[in-house]
Amino acid sequence: MADVSLKNVYKSFGKTEVIHGISCDIKDGEFIVILGPSGCGKSTLLRMVAGLEVITKGDISINGAVVNNLEPAERDIAMVFQNYALYPHMTVFKNMAYGLKIRKMPKAEIKKRVFDAAKILEITELLDRKPRQLSGGQRQRVAMGRCIVREPKIFLFDEPLSNLDAKLRVQMRLEIRKLQENLNITSIYVTHDQIEAMTLGDRMIVMDNGYAVQIGTPLEIYENPATRFVAGFIGSPAMNFLAARLSADGKQVELRGGISFFIQNGDVPNQGGQEIILGIRPEHFILAESKKAMMHLTIDHIEILGADTLVYGHFGEDKTLLTLRLPAVHHFKRNTVLDLIVSSKNLHFFDKESGKRIER
Ligand SMILES: Nc1ncnc2c1ncn2[C@@H]1O[C@H](COP(=O)(O)OP(=O)(O)OP(=O)(O)O)[C@@H](O)[C@H]1O
Ligand SMILES: [Mg+2]
Repeated sequence: MADVSLKNVYKSFGKTEVIHGISCDIKDGEFIVILGPSGCGKSTLLRMVAGLEVITKGDISINGAVVNNLEPAERDIAMVFQNYALYPHMTVFKNMAYGLKIRKMPKAEIKKRVFDAAKILEITELLDRKPRQLSGGQRQRVAMGRCIVREPKIFLFDEPLSNLDAKLRVQMRLEIRKLQENLNITSIYVTHDQIEAMTLGDRMIVMDNGYAVQIGTPLEIYENPATRFVAGFIGSPAMNFLAARLSADGKQVELRGGISFFIQNGDVPNQGGQEIILGIRPEHFILAESKKAMMHLTIDHIEILGADTLVYGHFGEDKTLLTLRLPAVHHFKRNTVLDLIVSSKNLHFFDKESGKRIER
């Protein structure tokens, strides 16, 4: 049982500040994902929670007690890394038991814990094998087993699936989520893969360059991205961004090349008269009658995915590029023109300068 609280946490390496004041309250049993591009500070933040990096400024507390100066071993935390290095000369059983043995736990208790964890992970029949006799996914499960047997208060994961192939990653993702729900252990999971983050997290911390730019549930962040950066990072294919202008009353969007359209009443932004970036997700375009259309897209290329079709094309005088995701299989041809509308509620407005979302 553990809740974790980060209060205005900073980290500098020498004179370089890499984490610029992050705060977040993580509830007991919650699954939090730290998401962001390479180098944004995800691992550093996780390592501070683990006690592997000194906190430059701010506080990290577990169950209300500040742990800034506690050694990793005193924090009751287990961590799974990308490179989980099992001991090659030991069996799976011994690999899982090792950490308990050096803590001098009685043999019977070790055996019970290893067998219980193996049952949860469905690796009981592998306990006598050596790591080299296992598949990548099985090895990853043993690495998790090593953590489970310790019965920690908190699980930390740093990109644990990135060494696995795509199919196995999806399978293990599901298993980690199920396991976490069953054990109900507070978990913090680092990834740069937005689909992993969306599917695993109760909430996500989206990081950009050492800042937590948005904290929320996957759906909150997908529907209301706080900045253009977040909007572009969450969702696949990525959101389309168009240079645009809002009319002074905010009721009309003007795109380049003389294209403009009205925004429905309830969805008008609370600012107007400035240059903006208009964001539209590929899945939010709808085929429409020509005279009602907001834009006419000339198809450059299509990809049939089975359930959906991705359409790449351009519109307007300056050939602005768009990506569309249309449900169902469409056998469109190159150079066909599609007439498109987007519901006003699915338009996202971002300030051109700051990149911040313009609320409605
Ligand atoms: N020991 C260190 N000394 C100096 N700078 C460091 C150290 N560790 C990390 N950094 C820097 O801190 C920043 C954040 O690094 P971090 O490893 O936390 O990024 P990350 O988000 O985990 O990236 P990745 O997705 O590539 O693992 C980077 O600019 C990195 O170069
Ligand atoms: Mg990292």
